[in-house]
Amino acid sequence: MVKSPNPCGEGDFLFPELTIRAVMHKLKRDKLPHHLAIIMDGNGRWAQERLLRRIVGHQKGVEAATRVVDECSRQGIAFLTLFAFSAENWLRPKTEVQALMQLLKKYIKAETPRMMQNNVRFNVIGNRDDLPPDVNLVVDEALARTSANTGMVLTLALSYGGRQEIVRAARLMAADIAAGKATGDDEALFARYLYTSDLPEPDFLIRTSGEMRISNFLLWQLAYTELYFPDVNWPDFDKEQLHKALEVYQSRERRFGRTSGQVQNGK
Ligand code: FPP
Repeated sequence: MVKSPNPCGEGDFLFPELTIRAVMHKLKRDKLPHHLAIIMDGNGRWAQERLLRRIVGHQKGVEAATRVVDECSRQGIAFLTLFAFSAENWLRPKTEVQALMQLLKKYIKAETPRMMQNNVRFNVIGNRDDLPPDVNLVVDEALARTSANTGMVLTLALSYGGRQEIVRAARLMAADIAAGKATGDDEALFARYLYTSDLPEPDFLIRTSGEMRISNFLLWQLAYTELYFPDVNWPDFDKEQLHKALEVYQSRERRFGRTSGQVQNGK
């Protein structure tokens, strides 16, 4: 007996194209994540599986990022945050770090006109003091050029670490309190000292490549985020994969500590 296609089950294997089309039609525009965060993992493995250099995987990763940014903006997602380079990624071989910095620079330069075209506002979180001056220059240019855009906010996490961000915020808050510039000690006050003070908390986090870790990404902000770990390397994460992920998000019930009954009764 031939099984009918099922967006999340065995039918995927039998009818991949039918499944993708079925998923695309199922997306509810009013239930998209307001803020989507992505850990773009698996570039190195994508390359190694093809006997290519790791940097080729990163180059393909940039192409995947361009596709996903375009589609998120087209779908009407308000905030998209991409983990592009972690505070710990500086420990990689020097040649890979240099190549990644050059790729980032190239990506931001090439993406700026597209951001202008799509009304996307660029944003960066992380320790910019660690970045090479030429990268900081293109970051500043992109921030300035896109600052008046009113569409999707695209945030790149660069030299970003969640623990480092929390320690920095604690220091800044303590200094402000000691100087009489702030009062109180609650969560809302603390969140104002994070890099993400202007962003809502992510509703949905995707980490590609099948790895199931947070890896020091947005530790404070992910407290109630829905997590999804598709078994596909980042360079292969395309529009269809994104639609499938968004459909998974739409099937989740977000309870924020309440019971399912309370959520369903709107209490
Ligand atoms: C993970 O692959 C990816 C990174 C370390 C970050 C770099 C990301 C890109 C170049 C994608 C492009 C993004 C932008 C926005 C410029 P990995 O090297 O950890 O893969 P592996 O775990 O398979 O080795």
